[in-house]
This record gives sequence, C-alpha cells and structure tokens, in this order.
Amino acid sequence: MEQASAAHAPGELILRLRGVGKKFGAVTALEDIDLDVHAGEVVALVGDNGAGKSTLVKVLAGVHQPTSGTIEVQGKAVTLDTPGKALELGIATVFQDLALCENLDVVANLFLGHEISPWRMDEVQMEVRAWTLLQELAARIPSVREPIASLSGGQRQTVAIARSLLLEPQIIMLDEPTAALGVAQTAEVLNLIERVRARGHGVILISHNMEDVRAVADRIVVLRLGKNNGVYTAETSHQELVAAITGANENAVSRRAARKLEEVDQG
Ligand SMILES: Nc1ncnc2c1ncn2[C@@H]1O[C@H](COP(=O)(O)OP(=O)(O)O)[C@@H](O)[C@H]1O
Ligand SMILES: [Mg+2]
Repeated sequence: MEQASAAHAPGELILRLRGVGKKFGAVTALEDIDLDVHAGEVVALVGDNGAGKSTLVKVLAGVHQPTSGTIEVQGKAVTLDTPGKALELGIATVFQDLALCENLDVVANLFLGHEISPWRMDEVQMEVRAWTLLQELAARIPSVREPIASLSGGQRQTVAIARSLLLEPQIIMLDEPTAALGVAQTAEVLNLIERVRARGHGVILISHNMEDVRAVADRIVVLRLGKNNGVYTAETSHQELVAAITGANENAVSRRAARKLEEVDQG
C-alpha cells in the first residue's frame, strides 16, 4: 500500500493564479484575480455574498472555465477543463453539501468511486487504510463501520475531508466547512485543518467566520465584488478584515501601506 505523504517540499509554490477572470454573459463574477498557495499553508478566502468565492472554487475545481488569466500548478500552466482534470493535477474540493451517502458506513464513503482503481483493495484493506488515515488525522470517529447518518456534523466533515485526502492532493479546497457546526465541532474541524496543513497539503479555506479564519489561516485573501481586495495575516484585526470585505475603508491596501510608512517616519 502506498505511504501517505504529500510529494513536495514545504513552502513550495504549488498553485499560482494571475489575472483570472470569469464572466457569465454580462455578469463579471471574477476580474483579474491573483492567488498563490504554497505547500503546508492555509489560505483563507473571504468575502461578502456575491464576492466570487464559489466561482473561484469552481474554476479551480474544473467546474467553470475562466474567461481570462492563467493558472499554474507547480510552475506549469494548466487547463482545468473538467473536475477529473483538476483532481488529476492534485486539486481536491470538499463542496459544502459534502456529497456523502447517509446509509453507507465510513469506509464505504471514503472509498466511494475509488473502489476499483487505483487500489483494488478488498474490504479489510480498505478498513485498515481508512483507520490509518483517520488516526493520522486524529479524527474522532467512533467506528469506521458506523453509517454516516449516525455521525455529527463535525464527524461528517472529517469523513469528507479524509475522502479527498485519499488521492493525496497537493491542494484541498474546503467550502464553508464549519458553517453548520457548533463550537466544539468547529474546534475539531479547525484542528483537522491544521493537521492537513502539517501533512504538507496547501489548504484553501472558504469561510464566513472571521474567528475561524484568524484561528487557522496563514494568509487571508479578501475578495470584493469579484476582485482582490487585499491579503492579510491572522494578526489583522477583526475590524480591518470586515472593512476590507465590505469596502468600508476605501482602499484597505493603501491604508495599510500608508500606516506602515507613518510608523517608519516616526522611527
Ligand atoms: N452560474 C452563474 N450564472 C450567472 N451568474 C453567476 C453564476 N454563478 C455566480 N454568478 C454571479 O457571480 C457573482 C459571484 O457569485 P459567487 O461566486 O457565488 O459569490 P460568493 O460565493 O462569494 O457568494 C454573483 O454576482 C453571482 O450572481
Ligand atoms: Mg458562495
């Protein structure tokens, strides 16, 4: 059985978007988007409703084709023309609805669609692989033979994330993974995201929750009206992030730059 490890050096630039745009007829959903994601990094993607987050996720998942710009994976220009192609290039997505089968158990859900290639595992091998991965992720799943229907929201999210890790992607995109969760389950999923990062994957986290974002993100990329509106760190204040998201400060980026200059002036 293959050993689970991401095949790239930590800090390596794995995904690079430049000038990516997406139009739906007359509607411009994305315009001139730049985005970098490195190995072992959590990049949060935040923005108000309609900012273009889901469209960007779908572009990277191979669901929508960009109308302009370039996408590079590990320094090579790529065309993500189908979801299969995105997966092949190591970009995995956990969509908000998770797409788990309620009546099937954890093992069956983990291997759904993967049963034949590339593993050709029997039931016992699949169960062992499932346990190994879930233990590596320190996931709190009572039994891999538990049907999904009996799991909590956090445990379901864990199963969906574990399933996408089976293909050892370079990048994993999580769309609002904590949206439906309570405090304890949210903490569990945030811990899981940190362990995914520690395995060397690049993580793109879409979230409405600024506390979650600031708890785990290495960088916070703000989208506003389909455009980049600044890149921040976890040290950025809640107010400053909200201002960038809502456009309350005319230009959050230049204001930050201006403040930095002031600090330099004051010695
Ligand atoms: N399939 C589509 N057809 C037409 N317009 C769309 C489609 N998907 C998204 N849009 C538009 O693109 C913009 C960005 O939407 P979306 O990416 O869903 O934003 P977010 O996920 O940040 O809320 C919105 O104006 C939305 O109405
Ligand atoms: Mg959305």
